[in-house]
Amino acid sequence: MIRNLTKTSLMLFFLSLLSTTHLSGQQDIPSRVEALLNKMTLAEKVGQMNQYNGFWDVTGPVPKEGNSKMKYEHLKQGKVGAVLNVRGVENVRKLQEIVVKESRLGIPLIFGQDIIHGFKTLTPVPLAETASWDLEAIQRSARNAAVQASAAGISWTFAPMVDISRDARWGRVMEGAGEDPYLGALVGVARIKGFQGDDLAAPNTIASTAKHFAAYGFAEAGREYNTVDVGTNTLHNIVFPPFKAAVENNVKSVMNAFNILNGVPATGDAFLQREMLKDRWGFKGFVISDWGSIKEIAFHGHAKDLKHTAELAAKAGSDMDMESYAYINHLEALVKEGKVQESLLDDAVRRILTVKMELGLFEDPYLYCNEEREKRWLYAAEHDVAALDMAKKSIVLLKNEKQLLPLAKTQQKIAVIGALANDKNSPLGSWRIGSDDNTAISVIEGLTKYGKNFTYAKGADLITGKANFIDEVKINETDRSGFAAAVELAKNSSVVLMVLGEHGFQSGEGRSRTKLGLPGVQQELLEAVHAVNPNIVLILMNGRPLAIPWAAENIPAILETWQLGTQSGNAIANVLYGDYNPSGKLPMTFPRSVGQVPIYYNHYSTGRPVSEGNVFWSHYSDEANTPLYPFGFGLSYTQFEYSDLSVDASNPKAVKVMVTVTNVGSRTGEEVVQLYLQDKVASVVRPVKELKGFQKFSLSPKGTKRVSFTLTEKELGFYNTKGKFIVEPGMFEVQVGTNSQEGLSKSFELK
Ligand code: BGC
Repeated sequence: MIRNLTKTSLMLFFLSLLSTTHLSGQQDIPSRVEALLNKMTLAEKVGQMNQYNGFWDVTGPVPKEGNSKMKYEHLKQGKVGAVLNVRGVENVRKLQEIVVKESRLGIPLIFGQDIIHGFKTLTPVPLAETASWDLEAIQRSARNAAVQASAAGISWTFAPMVDISRDARWGRVMEGAGEDPYLGALVGVARIKGFQGDDLAAPNTIASTAKHFAAYGFAEAGREYNTVDVGTNTLHNIVFPPFKAAVENNVKSVMNAFNILNGVPATGDAFLQREMLKDRWGFKGFVISDWGSIKEIAFHGHAKDLKHTAELAAKAGSDMDMESYAYINHLEALVKEGKVQESLLDDAVRRILTVKMELGLFEDPYLYCNEEREKRWLYAAEHDVAALDMAKKSIVLLKNEKQLLPLAKTQQKIAVIGALANDKNSPLGSWRIGSDDNTAISVIEGLTKYGKNFTYAKGADLITGKANFIDEVKINETDRSGFAAAVELAKNSSVVLMVLGEHGFQSGEGRSRTKLGLPGVQQELLEAVHAVNPNIVLILMNGRPLAIPWAAENIPAILETWQLGTQSGNAIANVLYGDYNPSGKLPMTFPRSVGQVPIYYNHYSTGRPVSEGNVFWSHYSDEANTPLYPFGFGLSYTQFEYSDLSVDASNPKAVKVMVTVTNVGSRTGEEVVQLYLQDKVASVVRPVKELKGFQKFSLSPKGTKRVSFTLTEKELGFYNTKGKFIVEPGMFEVQVGTNSQEGLSKSFELK
């Protein structure tokens, strides 16, 4: 007995030792940071707050000054805290060595890059991934992206973008999760969890960034970098929630935004960065500026020169300067002149050092520099499998008349038309820095795996020349020379697959559009083919909602395939042939025309919402108010029926909503059951409906499921104009259904 006891207590003792040693690294961080901070000179503190772009060749012994102003001397003097766009183990190691071995304190660099939807292996653009409504798959995508990026030396991604946007003209909608803050918050959190994993100090996890704080997605008229004016109701209930969720889920950095918000540049806005983010939400990570956004404070007319921008940004809580050269040139002087308190720099540096320590870079500055991992993980085969799964789940079936889809695997004579069908580059999207051009499986390649029973005719080029990340894409507006051959081919085919849409480089940063139709001569091509053979499956590729009323009216089958990444063609072929039953739902409203934009499902009621037989109600004279395809919309090859909606509001803190969903079609399929709520009368008016829950699951034919949701205060309340969260008793209406416009509904009273 005594022997046993001794053994057990010894074991417990060693176990406790083990766990304290494991934890001590983390628990010690505040004191280690403090000790280091105490040793730092003012110049070294400023250095930690400085980030340089290093898009240059560092394969020589000493880095040269490329298009970056980063100098070897700066690295040696501890004037650089972070770099971006240096990747590859060899390059990363070279820079890290200089800093660690030659600078006075040897504080390791953190290497950032935009890992937006994959690194080498690309998954669908974020808007497309959101269409899956599959949080596990989205988290896995981010996890795999982190595995590849970290293997190439990257320790920090500038993702996820959690900007809500209601404007399809804005090119960056492809990078976000669409128009809804509830879905947007969950998707953002899934990505953060994927990037950061369970243990940030592991060599295959990276720090993530919620961006762009705040309201960048509300640029007026959808024009990139444009003015933003949003009221408090929208700010607190639509713009902020995904950022707050990111903070609650331990996001390590937040990037500020290029835009002004209600008259103040976001980068110099203390209300945003100090009051909301750091004080009210308790954000412990650091704020990185957007590229040059500190110096742009002056261009907005809010600061008189670069030095003044540094003062405003530092005071407002921007902790690190990306490519403005404002901090490195002026912050030290500003402190010495008493214009900026050194304690503000201490706060910023504490935050930056903490993240570096949490990443494990102080234990091993070369944690991310392992050639074997680099070889093992870039283009890893298992990531292709996950990318294909994600790509299939991201496809949305918009229309399927005459049961044109899925295609029969035998006896069809298929025509394939459209330049995008044969494109291995465009499906990679526009945020693919670090990846390689022309690495997507094209639609033609995907179809070939199902046999050779198709013939291809391009019809027309989409672009002229080569598209790339920095130049304007040139669209073919004139060359119709391929039309005749395509029309001839269509005439002699039983079904025509037309792959049309935007080029991958037509959406993304700096790529706003005023037109939302099919670019170039594609609409004409579509109509010319339709005139000889209406049996068309339109396969859309695009990074934003499109306005395609003619196609919606005249084309029997439409598949929204976005930009699906590396596995694009395989995923599309799988869906066309019914080996995967489409299950995606739109994360953004598709308008009938650009004139309706911004159009979104969670709008308010007007004082004149319906017609009384004359013109004096809220409407257009030349277009309906309703969208072409609503938020949450997406069909399946099977059909689902909803019945028996019940609501039990006896406990106001846990309102129970139940509904029965049955697969009444003939194929197994997945449905996304969506719950929307309306607070009928409130002190600050509430939208006509708001997504407050969803569940995705598979049902076999005749399969049925009783689905249950619990609405807590979190779902029942809202932020008032002061940003205070409140729940108001009274009448509510709940709607549960297959998209934002169709479903069963019931009223209940919250007591
Ligand atoms: C973008 C950011 C991005 C940064 C670094 C900026 O132009 O707005 O989202 O993270 O560049 O590449």
